[in-house]
Amino acid sequence: MAASEAIMRVCDGLVPLLFSSGPYFSKSLSESRTSEKYRKRASHSKVLNCSISISPQFSHVSSGNVATTQKRYAKCKCQRPQSANGISSEGGNGAWFVDNAKEFYTVNVNTPNVLEFKEISSKKEVTSNSNLPENGSVRDTLQTVIADSVEDEAWELLRESIVYYCGNPIGTIAAKDPSSSNVLNYDQVFIRDFIPSGIAFLLKGEYDLVCNFILHTLQLQSWEKTVDCHSPGQGLMPASFKVRTVPLDGDDSATEEILDPDFGEAAIGRVAPVDSGLWWIILLRAYGKCSGDLSVQERIDVQTGIKMILRLCLADGFDMFPTLLVTDGSCMIDRRMGIHGHPLEIQALFYSALICAREMLAPEDGSADLVRALNNRLLALSFHIREYYWIDMRKLNEIYRYKTEEYSYDAVNKFNIYPDQISPWLVEWMPNKGGYLIGNLQPAHMDFRFFSLGNLWAIVSSLATVDQSNAILDLIEAKWLDLVADMPFKICYPALEGQEWQIITGCDPKNTPWSYHNGGAWPTLLWQLTVACIKMDRPEIAARAVEVAEKRISKDKWPEYYDTKRARFIGKQAHLFQTWSIAGYLVAKLLLADPSAAKILITEEDSDLVNALSCAISSNPRRKRGPKSSQKSYIV
Ligand code: GLC
Repeated sequence: MAASEAIMRVCDGLVPLLFSSGPYFSKSLSESRTSEKYRKRASHSKVLNCSISISPQFSHVSSGNVATTQKRYAKCKCQRPQSANGISSEGGNGAWFVDNAKEFYTVNVNTPNVLEFKEISSKKEVTSNSNLPENGSVRDTLQTVIADSVEDEAWELLRESIVYYCGNPIGTIAAKDPSSSNVLNYDQVFIRDFIPSGIAFLLKGEYDLVCNFILHTLQLQSWEKTVDCHSPGQGLMPASFKVRTVPLDGDDSATEEILDPDFGEAAIGRVAPVDSGLWWIILLRAYGKCSGDLSVQERIDVQTGIKMILRLCLADGFDMFPTLLVTDGSCMIDRRMGIHGHPLEIQALFYSALICAREMLAPEDGSADLVRALNNRLLALSFHIREYYWIDMRKLNEIYRYKTEEYSYDAVNKFNIYPDQISPWLVEWMPNKGGYLIGNLQPAHMDFRFFSLGNLWAIVSSLATVDQSNAILDLIEAKWLDLVADMPFKICYPALEGQEWQIITGCDPKNTPWSYHNGGAWPTLLWQLTVACIKMDRPEIAARAVEVAEKRISKDKWPEYYDTKRARFIGKQAHLFQTWSIAGYLVAKLLLADPSAAKILITEEDSDLVNALSCAISSNPRRKRGPKSSQKSYIV
């Protein structure tokens, strides 16, 4: 990165309400000599102070003069307000805001075939009247009443989950179960968990929280993170962060708040959160689209943040595939579940983030190479996933008859898949109509499990073709009892059992068959399902799933996940009042009420990419291909 690209990270430069003095946090990301000095300074304070500068201006560090930069730093007194504007102090995680003003929502779904909710004035009273006859319209009315009260409760809980930093909202806590003492790290703001919360607030027209989240997490990006003696490369976004209140240096009577990020160095299993930066980019675009405020994405520090994530993802490695190579547990499934390699979820988010980033990157000479690399990767990635991850009856039959050990450029069975890998469950499970993208592809290995998030986000981002997207939804309909059952939505199907569970999970007692990540049901996935269904103009599928969830999710206290094959039990170790279960439900409801709002998350198929893809496919690698043509790169 050129020295001119060095940036100042502003604590709240674009959130002028935060501090009247306009404090900011300044940092050089230059790869020049500056970075070494900067790193040393950063390592003295591993946590981020909210307050920092005496100069209100946003300026560049052009010369890497750390001495000058350091002089600019000063701490603001950031004691927690005892009570101001409805904000009160509580617990160890900043101040909590409780909005007592309940807002009632009327859901009017205009789309044909979608649940018809009617406006009701006296909501909760009607539910208690058990003498009403069970005719169609009364049943509808009751359903509407239940839905409305569940929604009201969800909003109340979501607002209660807001975390404050120096008196300003910056995220939502992962779970806020008043009855549980075993919080682990669920008292933190997780980047991935915040996405549905952020979207819910955006859809509601409350933009500040999301803007604050984007800018504060940006400051945490690439802070020095170490696992024992190793510091991995810059650009990584943390998995989560916590607002801590600590004594102010040199003044025992005062406190200050700090943001303390976790890049996986404290997380169970020390897993690197590859998805965080990808989700951050997706949320940034959604913020701009929804609020109309493009100034955030245009900021020089935000542009640099985007580029750092891209550089980290696009860096050359040993990989032979255009898919991103990651370790196990690097995404929503953040424990050992045999998804190391090239898991679909990461590839779908990667593709989505590349598309979103391309839309937001300001054209400038310095990033031409990056944009070229991005375009080439988009093309190669979509070709690879569409071609090699896709299975349906036809493809399965093709694999079943594969020849193996083909040494040549024009091998049909490129990855040397042995047909015996087709498990008996899959032969039974694959519907005649429908198909899906497999979970992972490696040499001699196809992970045939159905992973929901990857498939849903492949639809949303247009990584899957239109036909494939419809086929995925066909499969969801055909396999409703397996994937939705009593609570939407299965995280993956089927569960690993017996010896497979022992070997692949390492006998993980949390991931026993049909529990947690191993075939458990996660209500948060409702929102991604809804966006995917709306994109394909089939919102009725999501509406049905929401109706299923509504029957028990509030009564069950908004669990994190459900167990058993049919999702009948609340998860063995599930946290209750899990924020992304609450927010996922709300986003689904809001989008079903106004499907056009889903465009803030959807990316349509890019015509340049389609043209380039058809060129690539017409010189199909399935046909004869020599070593020379394999060197061809596609520049869109
Ligand atoms: C669990 C989930 C992870 C989530 C976290 C906080 O670790 O696997 O996806 O981000 O809980 O809710």
